[in-house]
Amino acid sequence: SVGSEIKETSGAGGELHQVTADPSRWLTTNQGLPVADDQNSLKAGARGPTLLEDFHFREKITHFDHERIPERVVHARGYGAHGFFQAYAGNEDLTKAAFLCDSQAKTPLFCRFSTVAGSEGSVDTPRDVRGFAVKFYTSQGNYDLVGNNIPVFFIQDAIKFPDLIHAVKPEPDRAFPQAASAHDTFWDFVSLTPESTHMLLWAMSDRALPRSFRMMQGFGVHTFRLINAKGKATLVKFHWRPKLGAFSLIWDEAVAIAGADPDFHRRDLWDAIQAGDFPEWELSVQAFDEKQAAKFDFDVLDPTKLIPEEIIPLRPLGKMVLNRMPDNFFAETEQVAFCPANIVPGIDFSEDPLLQGRLFSYLDTQLSRLGSANFQEIPINAAKCPWQNLQRDGHMRMRVDPSRTSYEPNSLDMTAPREAGADGFQTFAAPTEGTKLRIRPESFADHYTQAHLFYKSMTEPEQRHIAAAFAFELGKCREVKIRTRMLGHLQHVDAQLAETVAAKLGMPGQADKITPAVPTNLKVKPSPALSQYRD
Ligand code: HEM
Repeated sequence: SVGSEIKETSGAGGELHQVTADPSRWLTTNQGLPVADDQNSLKAGARGPTLLEDFHFREKITHFDHERIPERVVHARGYGAHGFFQAYAGNEDLTKAAFLCDSQAKTPLFCRFSTVAGSEGSVDTPRDVRGFAVKFYTSQGNYDLVGNNIPVFFIQDAIKFPDLIHAVKPEPDRAFPQAASAHDTFWDFVSLTPESTHMLLWAMSDRALPRSFRMMQGFGVHTFRLINAKGKATLVKFHWRPKLGAFSLIWDEAVAIAGADPDFHRRDLWDAIQAGDFPEWELSVQAFDEKQAAKFDFDVLDPTKLIPEEIIPLRPLGKMVLNRMPDNFFAETEQVAFCPANIVPGIDFSEDPLLQGRLFSYLDTQLSRLGSANFQEIPINAAKCPWQNLQRDGHMRMRVDPSRTSYEPNSLDMTAPREAGADGFQTFAAPTEGTKLRIRPESFADHYTQAHLFYKSMTEPEQRHIAAAFAFELGKCREVKIRTRMLGHLQHVDAQLAETVAAKLGMPGQADKITPAVPTNLKVKPSPALSQYRD
């Protein structure tokens, strides 16, 4: 099967040499030196020791020795694809973001789906949250929408993220389990963190077992701002909805598949795209203003809350199509660096304290994961619009800047970069004032109402799956005091759910005795206004 210009010969020891006379196909060293023999190291005599002088051998092994980079501290196992985004007409009242306003443009993008807890070599179908991250290469710079397939999160303040992840990840002494919610430390942390109750209900539901990446919803989770050309801000929550609809596996299927085909979701996406069956999602927002937000029974800055679609319906903005697999998994899917701080004019952050922390974390972690301050020059991360800044040097600098003047203002080089003024990104002038405090707002204090609403919105089989998941996962927690504490939280979500889980755990009759004597830094009770949601 080798090309006709390749001559095959055997060496002295019978090893195969495939040699070509075509200079364009010569194997070379990193320096471009043609390699005569890639089968044998340089030795002092046929049976003698290998010589240090063998620069080709040393170069080849050295590069191999450094092929692995640290995996992501979370979301290590992922799979991505290229595609495009096309806006629908008529979004200008909401935003001036060019890629959301020009309905003729197809904005290229890269999308990476992931599990959160497992290592890079773990399986595709554990019970876990899924990451849903999209990098839009817009004409105004890269915009990253770094979301999940569940619309809420476990914690309200970014300062708790390291604690959450330390509790979720394999325990450090035994290095297991890979499954986030099947061990003592996970249940210990979440049972002591009542704000995680709503997310826990989602995590124990079928949502945490997606059938396919192509059948997964995505959510920006936090409240963001869209800014239009007149400078008007609208608060939004982002939603991705798959054209194929949202489907889940059931637990027994997920377990069997994990054994039979650990790459189930990867293979599914690869096969679909290779077959030309391109998956599609619609991007929508729930759009509302500060006045509406003030009337909700929850705080829109609290990432453990969603906005019911009956209150604020979805408004479609455009569609995403994934139509090309990466040529190289490492170069693209592994090296891609998403960051919620990557923003374009027309979109802005909110003061959600989880989002605020994320704005710092991603660039920081990527400096160590990708090992160089210049990782934004890697093709998968580089903006596709012209970009120039005044940075210089650093490990792996690829750009060769001709200018002497990597500073500003300067009067020596009138072609050097300057500020864009009103055409550049301007932070929305959100009013803010206050006393410096380390505090959780009282408006974040109700941890059960939406958990209850979510549970009640499920069909009977879905409710059974949730009870079974709590019993199975909590059953892996060996500490009775932690199980008991957790049953106390479930009691506040739904008494029947708590009793069912208690019975399955062999603790019948325990749930109603339990009040969640949970140490919490929250000093207030849920607002009475929330009682309208209770049965
Ligand atoms: C990945 C931090 C919350 C979605 C990561 C990474 C870090 C991180 C350090 C690894 C990034 C890398 O190595 O490139 C945090 C912190 C959070 C937080 C500090 C809270 C304070 C969230 C939330 C979401 C989310 C709420 C969803 C809305 C993701 C996704 C990835 C990721 C999708 C994977 C990106 C990829 O595919 O490369 N996060 N995260 N994270 N995070 Fe978060």
